[in-house]
Amino acid sequence: MRQDEPIWITGAAGMVGAALTRHLRSEGYTNLLTPTRSELDLCSADAVQDFVVQHRPKHAFLLAAKVGGIAANIADPVGFLDENLRLVVNQLSACAKAGVEKVLFLGSTCIYPRECSQPMTEDSLLTGPLEPTNEGYALAKIAGLRLAQSYQKQMGMQCVLPMPCNIYGTGDHFDLTRCHVLSALVKRFCDAVDQEAESVTLWGTGSAKREFIHVEDAVRGMLHLFDAETEGEVINLGPGNDVSISELAGMIAEQAGFEGQILWDTTRPDGMPRKCTDNTRLKKLGFEPRVSLCDGIAMTIQEYRQTLSSNSYSANAA
Ligand SMILES: NC(=O)c1ccc[n+]([C@@H]2O[C@H](COP(=O)([O-])OP(=O)(O)OC[C@H]3O[C@@H](n4cnc5c(N)ncnc54)[C@H](OP(=O)(O)O)[C@@H]3O)[C@@H](O)[C@H]2O)c1
Repeated sequence: MRQDEPIWITGAAGMVGAALTRHLRSEGYTNLLTPTRSELDLCSADAVQDFVVQHRPKHAFLLAAKVGGIAANIADPVGFLDENLRLVVNQLSACAKAGVEKVLFLGSTCIYPRECSQPMTEDSLLTGPLEPTNEGYALAKIAGLRLAQSYQKQMGMQCVLPMPCNIYGTGDHFDLTRCHVLSALVKRFCDAVDQEAESVTLWGTGSAKREFIHVEDAVRGMLHLFDAETEGEVINLGPGNDVSISELAGMIAEQAGFEGQILWDTTRPDGMPRKCTDNTRLKKLGFEPRVSLCDGIAMTIQEYRQTLSSNSYSANAA
């Protein structure tokens, strides 16, 4: 990738897109195309087509998606399937028609079957039923990766297909109606400390296990894979180790300074019992994440508390 070539980043206002944009800018990339949703609604096939014809990107990082945690997925299955399918088809078909040379389509480990053996290898794709609580999102990701591979095979558009585990870190959302587990726990425990709450009740049993990658590592990994010879293969992107949600809650509670009780609402779903990637392919390609979960949690807590204090500063100033 040359620094002056037009590079299209979709979802550039989101957590991963903003981190990628920051990273590329800091590396001297000067021709980044980063339209916001109000400038380009990716659900509109015509608008997306017009955009690529006008700007002729040489490379594309397709990161836009309707994203959310377990509660958001359960509340809006139509949105997660319908919108994500539209985004996938509109972006990939526009790239292919406009002759974009190389496209990174960011997937997710949600593509793997609920009961697949752990750690999950890339070969377990399409070997069994998906986790029902995020089936729509997962189906759209599977459709996207197969469409990208088909464009590569039939029309020569090179595709790069990282499948990241849970991503967290700078720019993450703390809105409980849509955020993911790690940022939700950071908010819950920091708020509990501020409110001097005696207990915090969390969803599920705490036994489900999840794997996490800091957004800075996710971006470094995506760029590493973009430059590597991946031949359109799906590649897991994660550190290859997981923690239970109760262990994670304990780590966050301790770092946030919460000394009360952690209770579990077992009437709520856990989601997939375990989701840990086999990252052999990633390692063979020469990439390993750098930020430990412990350090990443500390940074996220600090960022959340900074957001709170700057919000209260703005509210006081208004
Ligand atoms: N976060 C994770 O744990 C995780 C894990 C695995 C994979 N991923 C993948 O990583 C990518 C980025 O996720 P993220 O966590 O950065 O999510 P995010 O912060 O919610 O960012 C998603 C971005 O997509 C944009 N978008 C959605 N629908 C759009 C539309 N119709 N038109 C234009 N833009 C639209 C959003 O715009 P608005 O800002 O206007 O809403 C937002 O900027 C996604 O493809 C996701 O599937 C994320």
